[in-house]
Amino acid sequence: MELSRRTVIAGAAAAGVTAATVGGTAHATGGRKPVKTLFGKLADGTKVYRWSLENGGTRLKVLSWGGVVQSLEIPDRRGRYANVSAGFDNLEDYVAKTPYFGALIGRYGNRIGKGKFTLDGKNYQLSVNDGEQSLHGGTQGFDKRVWDVEPFVKGSDVGLHLYYTSVDGEMGYPGTLKTKVTYTLTRHGDWRIDYEATTDKATVVNLTSHVYWNLAGEGSGTIEDHELQIAASRYTPTDAGLIPTGELAKVAGTPFDFSRTKPIGRDIRTSHPQLVTAKGFDHNWVLDKGITARPEHVATLRDPASGRTLKIATNEPGLQFYSGNFLDGTLTGPSGRTYRQGDALCLETQHFPDSPNKPKFPSTVLRPGQTYRTTTIHTFGC
Ligand code: BGC
Repeated sequence: MELSRRTVIAGAAAAGVTAATVGGTAHATGGRKPVKTLFGKLADGTKVYRWSLENGGTRLKVLSWGGVVQSLEIPDRRGRYANVSAGFDNLEDYVAKTPYFGALIGRYGNRIGKGKFTLDGKNYQLSVNDGEQSLHGGTQGFDKRVWDVEPFVKGSDVGLHLYYTSVDGEMGYPGTLKTKVTYTLTRHGDWRIDYEATTDKATVVNLTSHVYWNLAGEGSGTIEDHELQIAASRYTPTDAGLIPTGELAKVAGTPFDFSRTKPIGRDIRTSHPQLVTAKGFDHNWVLDKGITARPEHVATLRDPASGRTLKIATNEPGLQFYSGNFLDGTLTGPSGRTYRQGDALCLETQHFPDSPNKPKFPSTVLRPGQTYRTTTIHTFGC
């Protein structure tokens, strides 16, 4: 939380999240141990748990299914809390019909053209689940796996370590990929994600998080009034299958120019061919900072009505901004209201889509002995 931190923490404590009484050990600086409750059972009887965390004025609920952020609550400028992430209130909907609400995405965030790539002279065919393309890891990506979850309280931080091992050949990808994702809520209420992975054979990896944001609160309607800034002068235009053409096009003079803050709705109905193809924004922005050793600020999202803001920092070179184009009013959120086109948006930090087939894009290859490491930090304010 950037502003009125003290007030917010006091407010959260007064609101009395039952966490501490159920299983948490109160921490001197406010970080309480995450609390686990049963969320549902899969068809084969596997139990899926929901973990509740709170720190620095941010409340987070995470499922062992897909590492899903099921709820993320932050206050507005008057201290009123809202869940700003779209999702469901039951496991059945997550299993049957989620468009990746809140999920961890792997092994490869976004699309790989025709699900094919060649690495070290070997051809690989991945699971295809989006027309001809492989999207977000294939039919059974990391969003549809049960993760092992380990809670922690470390200094003033609270969080969860999430583990998933993807076997050699899963969804067509080579190598056993051992994945560890850490969700941390800091004492400032920031939500930090640290991704780590190792492999025993050369492979490709591109992990991300698929939270659908609506800073006015999920179920409250369109995000077209939200203001967005993305620190990028170029983006990657796509073909009809939403696969990058390979060009790094300038955003200047196009609807894709978010280098200075503007409302999302301002240019979304422009008949730019790229907007028509994708039914709105669904593109990768080439972040001006490039790959960095440490996370750097890349985007700011703001809802003027509530005053809630989200700032994103990452060490990744790309950001997919998806304006919820395929939400069609058929899914109902925890608020009991349906999600229609543009009722939530995603900001996915990543390497560029289809990098395994684009030698000029930054490489997504991971080899034995190397450790994949990326970090994304979400800072909330009001
Ligand atoms: C992609 C969209 C896709 C959506 C699925 C986004 O990351 O960019 O094209 O439809 O995920 O929910």
